[in-house]
This record gives sequence, C-alpha cells and structure tokens, in this order.
Amino acid sequence: MRYGMPDERLIEAALTHAARAPSVGNIQPWRFRVIDRGVHLYLDRRRVSSAAGSDERDLLVSCGAVLHHARVAFASLGWSAVVERLPDQRNPDHLAVIDLVRARTTPTDTALGTAITRRRTDQRPFSSQPVPPGFLGLVSERAAANGAMVHQAAHESRRSLVETMYEAERRHGVDRHPRLELAEWSGRYDGPGAVSSANSPPGRAGRGVAGDIFSSPGLGEPARAPDYAELLVVGTTGDDRRSRLRAGEAASAVLLTATNIGLSSCLLTEPLAVPDLRQRIRTGVLAGALFPQVIIRVGWQDDTTPLPAVPRHPISEVLAPADAPVCGASSLEDRSRPLADRPIGATGPSAEGLSSLTGPTCCGGCSHSSA
Ligand SMILES: Cc1cc2nc3c(=O)[nH]c(=O)nc-3n(C[C@H](O)[C@H](O)[C@H](O)COP(=O)(O)O)c2cc1C
Repeated sequence: MRYGMPDERLIEAALTHAARAPSVGNIQPWRFRVIDRGVHLYLDRRRVSSAAGSDERDLLVSCGAVLHHARVAFASLGWSAVVERLPDQRNPDHLAVIDLVRARTTPTDTALGTAITRRRTDQRPFSSQPVPPGFLGLVSERAAANGAMVHQAAHESRRSLVETMYEAERRHGVDRHPRLELAEWSGRYDGPGAVSSANSPPGRAGRGVAGDIFSSPGLGEPARAPDYAELLVVGTTGDDRRSRLRAGEAASAVLLTATNIGLSSCLLTEPLAVPDLRQRIRTGVLAGALFPQVIIRVGWQDDTTPLPAVPRHPISEVLAPADAPVCGASSLEDRSRPLADRPIGATGPSAEGLSSLTGPTCCGGCSHSSA
C-alpha cells in the first residue's frame, strides 16, 4: 500500500468540514498540524474553559468527534485514513496521527460527508414517531467499528436515566457554580467559541427529559411539549484517555448516521459530570459492564425548518502552520518514515527524538513538557 498526501487545499477543505464536529460548550478544543505525511491532532488547551468539566472526559470526547469527522471528510474527498491514536507517550495531548491513502469514495462516505454540514445539536423535544428499529442496529454496528458500544435506555433503564438527568439538573440548580458556568458559555449568539443560544429552547423542567437550561433561549416551543427522544448511552469497557477518544468517534458516527436518515439529535453529558450520578448510570443503565462517556438524544423533529449553523473558528485557528513550532516534535523523525516502514509497536518517540526535546518546542496549546 502506498501512503500519499493530498494537496494543501484538499486538506484545508477536509479540516474545515471536520471542524463542524460537536464539542462541549462549542469550545472546539482541537488543533491540527500537517507534519510530513501525517495530519496530527492535538488537544488545544488554549480553548479549555470551565464548561469542559474537570476530568477531561468531555474534551476527549469532543476531540474524538472531530477525529471521526476528519476521517469522514477525507473519505468523502477520496482519501482513506489510517489512524494512530495517542502516538507520543511524552505528550498526552498529541491525540492522533492520520495517515492518508488514496481510496474510492463509497456512497456511505458521501452520505456521511454530507451529513456533517446538515447536523445540528437540537435541544428541543422530539416527536412520538418511533425511530426505525434498524437504526439502532446500524448505529450499534458503526459505534462498535469506532471502538465503543451504544446502549439504548429502554423501559426501567430509561426511567432511571431520566431520573438521574433530573437529579443532575436539580443539583446544578442548587449549586450556583455550574449554573453560572452554563450562563457564561451559553447565551452568546455569534461567538465562534460559544453555544449559540439562537438554537436553544426555553428550560426543560417538567417536560419528560432533563437537560441543560441555557440562558437567553432563542427558540420558542409549544408549552409542555413532551419529549419522546430515544436515549442512547455510549459506553466503553475502559475509562482511560483512549476510551474517551474512541467514545467521541463512536458518538460522531451515531450523530452522522442519524442526520443522514433525517433524525435529529443532541449530545448530553451533564449527569456524567457528577461522579455518583455517573456511577448510577453505569450500574443502573449499563449493568456495570461499561463506563458511560456520553448520552445521545435521537428522534424526529416536527418542525423541519433547518436550525442555523453554530459558528466555528476559522481554518487558520484549526490548522496550525506547518513551519510553526510543533507539539510532539519527538515524533517528527518517526513520522517522516512511511507507516509501512516503521517497526510494529514503534508508536512512541525514538530515543534520539526524546533526547532532542530540549527547547520550548510546544505550540503553546498543549500540556507538553519539554523537560
Ligand atoms: C462532549 C460533549 C458534550 C456536550 N454536552 C451537551 C449538553 O450537555 N447539552 C447540550 O445541549 N449540548 C451538548 N453538546 C453539544 C454542543 O453544545 C454543540 O455541539 C455545540 O454547541 C455546537 O453546536 P452544533 O452541534 O449544533 O454544531 C455537547 C457536545 C459534546 C461533544
């Protein structure tokens, strides 16, 4: 197999498309850089805000979503991605390297690529029209192919999940701090680093599904509209950084699949930010077998008027220039060799690469230590 490299314009087009990925608080905590034959993904800590929570789960899920979006975007443009995750043990914020190989675009690639531009986070209630049964099978398959499981919360486990979501809302309601955090990152209409409240309905209390209440909601909704959303929990067998990244990739696959068939969707993580509530979801919904990483509401929206797109940072903020100082510089030597030529298991920096890490080579957006 021959690994190649698309031209600059195609890379920019694909990454502009990829950056439509959902992120917690729309903070877009990612940065790409092209080094030799690879497109490198970093966690961009300059973007981390209080909305991201303290355990980095939401950040890694967001970066997993942009990684999957990037794979889809490249595939829709005729390039298949070979991904190496967490390639540099010295730099945990160096999340992935994407190697690209020319490939024929399939109808599924095209459909998912188109879904990227159509997908919106929809916080409004969904109608009682059932989600097609085949959908759950399809998203389970696609999530598994991306390294995570999707569990449909039904009957008792749905009741338990909804109750836990309300409990999270109640606790955040009495705890002024998270409420203020929400008000801080919602309610801004135009900023590229904020949730667009133009897409936010009024508060959900008493509507049947709990969720975040955003300041300055811009959407109206019928009084007391019940929510019949299907609730899916994306879970992983482990709870490490890789698992969370994979959960984001799987969540992205679910969202794009849903969009492709006309379903609306919304990610939710509020109850997972509270340790005992997360544990309750793990045992009550996932039978203790998986760690819950993100919850997805999916359903049909009665109002089919497209929601406005939430702004994103410009590509100049997403793709760092190739000649700028580089995070994970230790990997540079290894990355200059085609993937097929690298020894199996040689995912970390070479000894020479490590010893060359002496100066402030970091881009400033990661936690990379050059000591
Ligand atoms: C890890 C993660 C957690 C999120 N949590 C919530 C949430 O609790 N409530 C919500 O309404 N949206 C949530 N979102 C969706 C973001 O708010 C949304 O992606 C962002 O505002 C951009 O809007 P868009 O998805 O319509 O492009 C989450 C997204 C991610 C990736």
